[in-house]
Amino acid sequence: MSTSTRPLEGKVAVITGGARGQGRSHAVTLAKLGANIALCDLCDDVATTGYPGASRADMAETIALIEGEGQKCFASVADVRDLDQMISFVDETVETFGSADIMIANAGIVSQGFIAEFTAEQWNDVIDINLTGVFNAIRAVTPHMVESGWGRIIGISSMIGRTANGGIPAYTASKWGVIGLCKSVALALANTDITVNAIAPGNVATPMIHNDEVYKVMRPDLAHPTMEDVASVFMSGHEQKLPWMEPQEISDVVAFIVSDAGRHFTGTVFDISAGASAKFSA
Ligand SMILES: NC(=O)c1ccc[n+]([C@@H]2O[C@H](COP(=O)([O-])OP(=O)(O)OC[C@H]3O[C@@H](n4cnc5c(N)ncnc54)[C@H](O)[C@@H]3O)[C@@H](O)[C@H]2O)c1
Repeated sequence: MSTSTRPLEGKVAVITGGARGQGRSHAVTLAKLGANIALCDLCDDVATTGYPGASRADMAETIALIEGEGQKCFASVADVRDLDQMISFVDETVETFGSADIMIANAGIVSQGFIAEFTAEQWNDVIDINLTGVFNAIRAVTPHMVESGWGRIIGISSMIGRTANGGIPAYTASKWGVIGLCKSVALALANTDITVNAIAPGNVATPMIHNDEVYKVMRPDLAHPTMEDVASVFMSGHEQKLPWMEPQEISDVVAFIVSDAGRHFTGTVFDISAGASAKFSA
């Protein structure tokens, strides 16, 4: 086990959807550990979600936080739905920093709706971003990792990827898909020093859950539900008595997976679900 306080010195971590939320937290955490960071984000709204996407100001704030840790950041406005854009982004990362060692395929959206009214646009946006986007990120980075012989890939699934939620059918399907994809790629690369794992977080305090649309779904009985009004509903999704975790709690597990101690974890799902996983079948 490395005892250095900057064990990722010389490594490059690539993060999709890195402008805010959990992606930002992973970026800053890995920068603190000595990695240079490449991040991309759409920096725009997705029309089929009921909440705003990250902005360019969010991305600038994340870059400043990474640089504040003394690390370099290469940031790009790019759409994970487009494989060519992901390949260009990762190739430019390698041109800039010399390698792409860690990939956190994190970008994601959620779209609420009853199945009998769910639109093709909603379905396609969620599947294209949450599932095809993870494939595109992995596809873009693996040639570089195979060439260097080392890599750590993490696909961000969800506790919903281990169970189901009737109000978010595409999200559920996409997050189950991320697990199958990560396990398949782990098998394909098991004879290398490249590990591939999925993280399945419970509720995490980011703009994906803290927005008016989600609050109204959680408390349809109230005209203007507040964070306080929805806390108990979020808490019912966990077994431990907390409504949501902080992004840093997920980043701490990311840091473990990419560490030396994580080297024999591959094809695994890391449930960080405040006890919800106790009820999953396996
Ligand atoms: N917040 C939760 O409770 C929770 C729980 C489990 C899993 N997750 C997953 O964690 C990941 C991070 O979400 P978050 O909670 O930080 O929410 P978030 O909305 O704050 O972050 C998602 C980021 O992805 C970006 N993004 C969206 N579409 C994109 C695209 N096409 N190309 C590039 N970037 C795009 C957004 O702009 C945003 O910066 C997502 O995959 C999400 O599904 C979230």
